[in-house]
Amino acid sequence: MIYLNLPTNFIKNTTMLSTLLTELKEGILIITINRPDKLNALNKTVLQELNEVLDDVYINNSIQSVIITGSGTKSFVAGADISEFLGAGIEAGKALAKKGQDLFFKIENAPKPVVACVNGFALGGGCELAMSCHFRIASDNAKFGQPEVNLGIMPGYGGTQRLVQLIGKGRAMELLMSAAMIDATTALQYGLVNYVVTPETLLDKAIAVLTLINSKAPLAVAGCITAANAVFNQDKNGFDTEAEEFGKCFGTADMKEGTTAFLEKRKAVFQRK
Ligand code: COA
Repeated sequence: MIYLNLPTNFIKNTTMLSTLLTELKEGILIITINRPDKLNALNKTVLQELNEVLDDVYINNSIQSVIITGSGTKSFVAGADISEFLGAGIEAGKALAKKGQDLFFKIENAPKPVVACVNGFALGGGCELAMSCHFRIASDNAKFGQPEVNLGIMPGYGGTQRLVQLIGKGRAMELLMSAAMIDATTALQYGLVNYVVTPETLLDKAIAVLTLINSKAPLAVAGCITAANAVFNQDKNGFDTEAEEFGKCFGTADMKEGTTAFLEKRKAVFQRK
C-alpha cells in the first residue's frame, strides 16, 4: 500500500477506498470514515475497507500509530447502517455481529496504538468502534450511546462487553437498556474518554499524545497493549502474559539501545527491532 500526505490518498493495489480517507502524518495514520451524509454509519463497505487498512497497519512499518475519526463536525459514527438490517434473519444477524466483532478485535489487538477521535455522535456501532480503540479523545460536542434497543436489537459489535469493562456494570447496564445518550463531560467523568477538547483541537491533541508514544520503544509499547488486553481475555492469565511480553523485550535491539542510551545520558533511537 502507498500512503501520500494528501487529503484523500489511500491507494491499495491502485484501488481507491470509497468510504475512508487516509493520511499518513509523521508515522500517524489518520483514518477518517467518510460518509457525512449518513453521519458516517458503518455499512458493509466501511467495515471491509477498515479491515483492509487494519491489515496494513499490522505490517506496514511506516505506520507507528493510528487515529480513527469521522468526517464532518456532527458525527463520529452514528452506528451500523440501519438500512442494511432489513430482511436479515437470525443467522444473518449473528454473522453480522461476528463480522463486526472480528474487525473490532483486530483494532483492539493491533500492535500499534489506535486512538479514537470522537468528533460528534458515537452511537451504537460508533460507540463500539470507539471502545475497541486503545483510548478515546472527545470533542466537547461528542455524544455517546447504545440506542439499539430503540430498534428492537441490541449491541452486537462488542458493546455489551466493552462498555461494562470501561465504565462499570451499573452505568453500562443503564445505558444499554435505556438507550440514553451521554455527553462528553459525562463520558469523561465515567472514564470512557481520556480528554475532552474543542472540535478544532481534537486531532492536535491526539497527535500530541501519539507523538509522545511514538517516541518510545515500539515493541515495548506493543507488549503493553497485549498485556493490558489480557486483563479482559478469559483464556489468558494477564500476569503470565505480562511476564511473557516483558521477557520478549529483553530479546530486542531496542532494549539494548534504550538502556545503553540511558546510561550514556543520551536520547534513545528506537528501530522497532
Ligand atoms: N444508519 C443509516 N443511516 C443513518 C444512521 C444509521 N445508523 N444514522 C443516521 N443516518 C442517516 C439518516 O437516515 C439521514 O439520512 P437521510 O438524510 O438520507 O434521510 C442522515 O443520516 C442524517 O441523519 P438524521 O437522522 O436526519 O440526523 P439528525 O440530526 O436528525 O439525528 C441522530 C441524528 C444520530 C440522532 C439520528 O440520525 C439517529 O438516531 N441515528 C441512528 C442512531 C442509531 O440508532 N444507531 C445505532 C444503529 S444499530
